[in-house]
Amino acid sequence: MATTTPVSERIRVEVQLEPSHREADLAELRATLMESPRRIPSKYFYDQQGSALFEQITELPEYYLARTERSLLESIADEVAARTGAEELVELGAGAATKTRILLDAMSRQGNLRLYVPFDVSESEVRRVAEELTREYDELFVHGMVADFTHHLDEIPPGDPRLVILLGSTIGNYRPEEAVELLQGVCDPMAAGDFFLLGVDLVKDVERLEAAYNDSAGITAEFNRNILRVVNRLAEADFRPESYRHVAFFDRENSWIEISLAAETDQPVRLEALDLTLSIEAEEKIHTEISSKYDRPMVEEMLVASGFRLAEWYTDPDRLFALALARKSG
Ligand code: AVJ
Repeated sequence: MATTTPVSERIRVEVQLEPSHREADLAELRATLMESPRRIPSKYFYDQQGSALFEQITELPEYYLARTERSLLESIADEVAARTGAEELVELGAGAATKTRILLDAMSRQGNLRLYVPFDVSESEVRRVAEELTREYDELFVHGMVADFTHHLDEIPPGDPRLVILLGSTIGNYRPEEAVELLQGVCDPMAAGDFFLLGVDLVKDVERLEAAYNDSAGITAEFNRNILRVVNRLAEADFRPESYRHVAFFDRENSWIEISLAAETDQPVRLEALDLTLSIEAEEKIHTEISSKYDRPMVEEMLVASGFRLAEWYTDPDRLFALALARKSG
């Protein structure tokens, strides 16, 4: 008779993040605020409120990215599961793991599903996802990693055949050189022949691109301003979010949406924890994010520079979004 391993025995969670990077974070913030133009690292969007606002963004009519990627993933999941033969799914930036089940179901239909590794900076999300999925999938083991995928990728315990995924156009937040560095970090610890699935947003007409970041309900503007509230808490600062205008436009030369906050008037800002006072000038822009838009040659070049080769290129019928299936070379 088959025996079933209880849920709790099928979960392990490993915490790589040090509980407090506050000093390092403050030093980085000081440096980015003194750059010209000033900048705030995009990671500060995602406090509880920011994550909730981002969830709302994914449901906006203008924000085609999330729903297009989801339906594309649904249409290719069985083929990807068969082609890769993967028994382990490693999800970088797993977050709430909303698209994960599509792949887990396909691996399970293939009879291969064994292990899920959610990799995320949020310990509460990793634990919640581990509990939920071990309950939903009878034989699934979950090895959660509370870690930063720009630092701790080589801490993932080895195992294959494995599929590593980075979805949601997360890679688009990185400049080309940073993106290659990150993807090299993904590739290095992988076994030759393992697969990697990367979600990327595609270049398209400017109106459509810009509308996705300037929604008529103003949710993206709120999401953008929220970063100032996060900084206010972190650095005991007094940014006034209401006095900044949300700006987002397509920079054709760099092929990215540039997102910033423009000050409506001259204003001093005090950051007590940095013992720093800034003089923000009227119309000065504080950069908060880039969101890169790709075509197939750009993605292939980025993958090859990182140690992969492109195995398959999947897009939706309107060519809005792509999933690139890559394999470690060698
Ligand atoms: C979560 C980084 C993929 O770039 O489209 C959405 C973030 N910013 N609207 C993106 C975002 C403004 C999003 N990513």
